[in-house]
Amino acid sequence: MPRHVAVIMDGNGRWAKQHGLARALGHKQGVNTLHEITETAARLGIGYLTMYAFSTENWNRPQDEIDALMALLVSTIATETPTLMKNNVRLLTIGDMQRLPQDVRTKIENCKQQTAANTGLNLVIALSYSARWEITEAARQLATAVANGQLLPQDINEQRISDALTTHAIPDPDLLIRTSGELRISNFLLWQLAYSELWFTDKLWPDFTADDFCNALRDYQKRERRFGKTSEQLKNN
Ligand code: FPP
Repeated sequence: MPRHVAVIMDGNGRWAKQHGLARALGHKQGVNTLHEITETAARLGIGYLTMYAFSTENWNRPQDEIDALMALLVSTIATETPTLMKNNVRLLTIGDMQRLPQDVRTKIENCKQQTAANTGLNLVIALSYSARWEITEAARQLATAVANGQLLPQDINEQRISDALTTHAIPDPDLLIRTSGELRISNFLLWQLAYSELWFTDKLWPDFTADDFCNALRDYQKRERRFGKTSEQLKNN
């Protein structure tokens, strides 16, 4: 079983269009899938599930869609917190939370506090997140430490960079799932996905089911993860 699964939940807009609905209703339907996949991951004993809910670039969408997503976020937290508690799920977030409206931040912080002692699945929601933003912040943090004399340039290594990212307490994803047939990473966890297995499906996020999720996990279990080594080296170990 992968320890950490990351998901790019794509295709809500196209799903809405297919059904003759407003885009916001596609996102609303997407929340149902989010609920189902979170419960499934919790039941399967997966340690971390990271969901790309809102990217830095999503701030460029029409204001009414941004407003609808923020409102959906607030209402989803209200309806889903009991589910998180029932399933022993801890909520975490990554991203530039300062950019979120104050009411959204408060609701998220309350939910994080309420679920902080849960010991099952860690549900990581990426909000106002992009990997280039995150890496830029990490670079600034390390540069500041050097400028203040707290860090020598020669002491900067991969571990220090990992530690400066918003995901410092989270293992790298083992598996990345992207729905909707797009074959790209879209500025998501660029550093952390270095050795992740990638799995794509044409299904739109609102149509994605627990069975599809399990198919991705089964596919992952058949892969050989070599981390740059040869197949023979792995067998001899
Ligand atoms: C991508 O579909 C999806 C999003 C930008 C938002 C994902 C959010 C949810 C599933 C709801 C849970 C999160 C919140 C914030 C409540 P798209 O709009 O890019 O679809 P398209 O590519 O078909 O247009």
